[in-house]
Amino acid sequence: MVDVERVLDEAGLTNTYVRDYVAHWAGITGADNVEVVSASDDARLIELALASGELLPAGEGSYYSRSYFKDTARAEERTIVATSNEADKGTYNNWRPAAEMKPKLVELMTGASQGKTMYVIPYLMAPAGGPLDKFAAGVELTDNVNVVLQMIRMARVGVDYINHLGDDFVKAVHVTGDLPNLGQGTPDDKRYFVTVADERTILHFGSSYGGNALLGKIAHGLRQGSYDGWKNGFLVEQFMLLGITDKGTGKKWNICGGFPSASGKTNLAMTLAPDALGDRYYVEFYGDDIAWIWVDDNGVLRGFNPENGVFGVAKDTNEKTNPTAIESIKPGLGVIYTNVAYNEKTQAVWWEGRGDKPTDLDGWLDWKGERIADRAEADAGADWAHPNSRFTTTLANVPNVAGDYDDHEGVEIHGIIFGGRTRDREPLIRAINDVAEGVYDGLTLGAEATAAADGLEGVLRYDPMSMRPFMSYPEADYGQHWLNVIGKATNNPIFAHVNWFQRGDDGRFLWPGYRENLRPLLWLMQYRNGEVTGVETPVGVLPAREELNLEGLDEQTLADLDTILTIDTERWQQEMGYREKHLAQFDGLPEEIWEAHRRVAKALDDA
Ligand code: GTP
Ligand code: MN
Ligand code: MN
Repeated sequence: MVDVERVLDEAGLTNTYVRDYVAHWAGITGADNVEVVSASDDARLIELALASGELLPAGEGSYYSRSYFKDTARAEERTIVATSNEADKGTYNNWRPAAEMKPKLVELMTGASQGKTMYVIPYLMAPAGGPLDKFAAGVELTDNVNVVLQMIRMARVGVDYINHLGDDFVKAVHVTGDLPNLGQGTPDDKRYFVTVADERTILHFGSSYGGNALLGKIAHGLRQGSYDGWKNGFLVEQFMLLGITDKGTGKKWNICGGFPSASGKTNLAMTLAPDALGDRYYVEFYGDDIAWIWVDDNGVLRGFNPENGVFGVAKDTNEKTNPTAIESIKPGLGVIYTNVAYNEKTQAVWWEGRGDKPTDLDGWLDWKGERIADRAEADAGADWAHPNSRFTTTLANVPNVAGDYDDHEGVEIHGIIFGGRTRDREPLIRAINDVAEGVYDGLTLGAEATAAADGLEGVLRYDPMSMRPFMSYPEADYGQHWLNVIGKATNNPIFAHVNWFQRGDDGRFLWPGYRENLRPLLWLMQYRNGEVTGVETPVGVLPAREELNLEGLDEQTLADLDTILTIDTERWQQEMGYREKHLAQFDGLPEEIWEAHRRVAKALDDA
């Protein structure tokens, strides 16, 4: 039996609430050893993981890991928010009674870490020292060393973040389980990813991948955080956050916003490189996936990125689409790649969209670890990397990370954007001045349904504010909470909806996207400042063609521009019908949201 008291003493972990929690779960999981970690343990744990084969070297100072092949993404259907109050049941949060879920997880976790080390990871999901620390602190217990290494990159890790906080920390227990025997995706699926939100306890069993396992990021940083924010007056969203400075005037604007997963948050936050548009603007990176947002005592809307790193999609990341990302994963930075293709002889990594596919197959293994040279003819075209393969790097490695990214005061937020993924209807950008219409727009955000998943072409898979998979409480309350928080802001934040994904008849993207996305954002800030007037439409204000900076765009884009700067009224009227059904799912949605919906519908009918 491991002497937990002695381990905690030696690590200087003095918080008695944390000590009791660690001892309690060490008993349940039956781990052979207990070890408290901090960021300074990184080099030693990397060595340990290399020695055990849990990590492989990927060139100088970079590492590679492969997750179990049935464990490569979040599992939404196994993810549950549990509380003791049935009124917390929403449309998307998979609510279950806490009294039902807790015993299930205890049973699954009992003895499940035998033969392993239980790592204790004290962490903070915030820049340290601010008033939100008590909501941002947590202690993850995990039996997986790769999870520790990922957490060290994605969060601030060490006992000093939690010793002074008493009982104000999230209890986050992760047990990997016997991955080959969990029935992933079958009726006998044994995995459970549960956030007991009103007890600030997270219990995840049956995965070692991403948000299922690094509990600071999504389970705490988004799901638990949004529940705490609801009860305590702040917003927690799956948002990127960036700053744009006009070097000529010295003025700076900060924009945050939500796009559904895999719709371009990381790309937008990182690609707008410093030299964009002829060196006139400087673009700073704050965050690519999560923002915590509040109104300060002066009525100013502010926000920060609670994370310490980037867990970015590898696919299509290259020098052209995202040079900033490529810079932030160069050799020597301690980057960890997950589920990309790997060359066991040269230690090189590769993914679809990285550049030319290696023609010499010697040593190349696909994301499952299978030799590409040995592939059967029928599998020759299969992806080398998993489409959800990722890189993990720290914010400090991002070349244009903002100088004040680590400031717990956050930054003033001037704009909130929502980004769909729609092949028609949604213009390049439309600005929305009214708060209720902005919140309404966020609640009706969606990404195109893929034919396989949801059927009907042109019908969105709605994803309110891009929070659908992370929603922790009812959507009607969520809408009201947004109205309350933004309603208090007196610094005039503007809303907008953007779409980089409109397509032509031949399937081509009508807008080049990526680094060019700076242009519509600049227009938005000019519009907010009253420097341009735009064109009023029933669904918001669009840029007049000549108001957009068009310098250097190619002929095809210039020819396509009119299409993405106009409104297809009939398609929009059809969309309003779908929206009505979508919103009707949310019992008790604020009347202000319905009024916004009816205003837009009427404006379309009158158009
Ligand atoms: P999560 O990390 O899962 O929350 O997703 P994300 O929102 O960060 O998505 P990400 O930036 O990784 O983008 C996902 C996909 O969108 C990638 O395949 C990108 O290449 C593609 N993408 C991003 N920006 C653009 C753009 O401006 N135009 C086009 N056509 N594709 C884009
Ligand atoms: Mn991302
Ligand atoms: Mn995300």
